[in-house]
Amino acid sequence: MIYSDKVLEHFMCPQNAYSMPDADAEGSFGDPSCGDALTFYIKIKDNCIKEISYLVFGCCASIATSSMTSVLAKGKSLDEALKITEEDIIEALDGLPESKVHCSNLGVSALRNAINNYLKKMLGRILMKIAIPVEDKKLETSVCQSFGRALYFLIYDTETKESIIIDNSATASQGGAGIKAAQTIIDNKVSVLLTPRCGENAAEVLNAAGIKIYKTRDASAMDNINAFIEGQLSLLEEIHPGFHGNGSK
Ligand code: FES
Repeated sequence: MIYSDKVLEHFMCPQNAYSMPDADAEGSFGDPSCGDALTFYIKIKDNCIKEISYLVFGCCASIATSSMTSVLAKGKSLDEALKITEEDIIEALDGLPESKVHCSNLGVSALRNAINNYLKKMLGRILMKIAIPVEDKKLETSVCQSFGRALYFLIYDTETKESIIIDNSATASQGGAGIKAAQTIIDNKVSVLLTPRCGENAAEVLNAAGIKIYKTRDASAMDNINAFIEGQLSLLEEIHPGFHGNGSK
C-alpha cells in the first residue's frame, strides 16, 4: 500500500495529539468495520475552535486523518468546521489508498460530534426564541415551504420550553411578503429562523437584525426545532432571488 508523503508525515509526527481534560466539549466516533476509534477535544472562543486535540486508536491512515482534521479545524468558526468534508481531508493529505478512504470519515464524524455536543451544551444555557413557518395553527404541524407566504409562524422559547403560533400578516400582501414576514420575526424577538427557503430581501433584513437562518429538513416543525437544538441543522445557504412573479419577496 502506497501512502503519500503527507500521510506519512502526519502518521510519524501527528499534530495536536493529546488529551484535554478541560475541553469545552468532546466527541467520539468509532468505525465498527475495523474497530478504529477517535475522540476529539475542543476549546471554543468567540465561536471559533481555539484549541483542538484528540486521542486515536487505529491504523496509519486514521492517525494521519485525525491529525489533518485537527489542523484543518483549528482556528475555524464552528460553522466552517462543520463544513469540513472527507474530501477536504483526503485532498489535504495528497490522497489516500482506496482501501483507506473510509478512515477520513473517522475525523469528520468525531469532529462534528464534538461541535454538536458543544452546541447542545451551549443551547442549554443560551436562551433564545426559534421561529419556523408552519402550515397549521397546532403544535403537530408541518413546515410551510414558503417563508414570506406562510400562514403562521411557530415560535419556541428555549427558556420556558413553550411554543406559540402567530399569524403571518404578510401572507396576503401584494408584494414584499418576505420583508414583512421578516419584520414579524424581528418584532417577536426571535434569534433563529428555521425555514426550507428564504428570499434574498427577507434574508437581508433578518441578517441585519442578527437573526441566523437554518435550513429545515423533511420533518415536522417540532422535530426540526429539536434537531436544531441537537445541533443537527445547517445554515441555509441557498438564498433565492426575492421576486417570483407573484409579489412574494
Ligand atoms: Fe478503519 Fe483506518 S482502517 S479507520
